[in-house]
Amino acid sequence: MSTHVCIARLREFVQELAALLQRHPTEPEILEQGSALLGRLVAYDDWLPEAYARPHPERYQQYLLHADAMGRFSVVSFVWGPGQSTPIHDHTVWGLIGMLRGAEIAQHYARTPEGGWAPEGAATRLLPGHVEAVSPRIGDVHRVSNALADKTSVSIHVYGANIGAVERSVYLEDGTRKPFVSGYSSTELPNLWDLSAERNAVLRVVSAKA
Ligand SMILES: [Fe+2]
Repeated sequence: MSTHVCIARLREFVQELAALLQRHPTEPEILEQGSALLGRLVAYDDWLPEAYARPHPERYQQYLLHADAMGRFSVVSFVWGPGQSTPIHDHTVWGLIGMLRGAEIAQHYARTPEGGWAPEGAATRLLPGHVEAVSPRIGDVHRVSNALADKTSVSIHVYGANIGAVERSVYLEDGTRKPFVSGYSSTELPNLWDLSAERNAVLRVVSAKA
């Protein structure tokens, strides 16, 4: 399968999510239908270019794969080196996490009566193909870790905004809050929009028949 055919999976996801949001769905509809779309994307591990799956020895990476021109969503590959994890953090917008490669542990947190944060429920172990959702409505504060001590893990995150421009918060368990904007690990994006290889393949078939 050529690179163009593989990256088509991401292009189709972006197009289908944009079409879904164009219909002005409610948040539950976005989470349900968006999860199905993301589940289809992460059902295959043949489309993410290697440059967007590279770990860093010290910190997890967040590569922007696509930002919607209207600011309605962004798609980011999270690349976890062995043992790496996020701090406890929020998103302030809806988010979907689709597991692509390896394994990830997601732990939700809830406010304690004393104003701190404590783990809520059991941690979830995400495996390739699994999709999880977060939002201020259903639970927005969590901590995510690479479940593997000796391998890189990769997950595809989709947010209801350009997440690299959203002011959000990191928390300590004692309730201390620190504002942050997550930003991106790369200045370049994959090219989803070069359709020439597919078009030329069609032309070759047509001219061969002529
Ligand atoms: Fe998160």
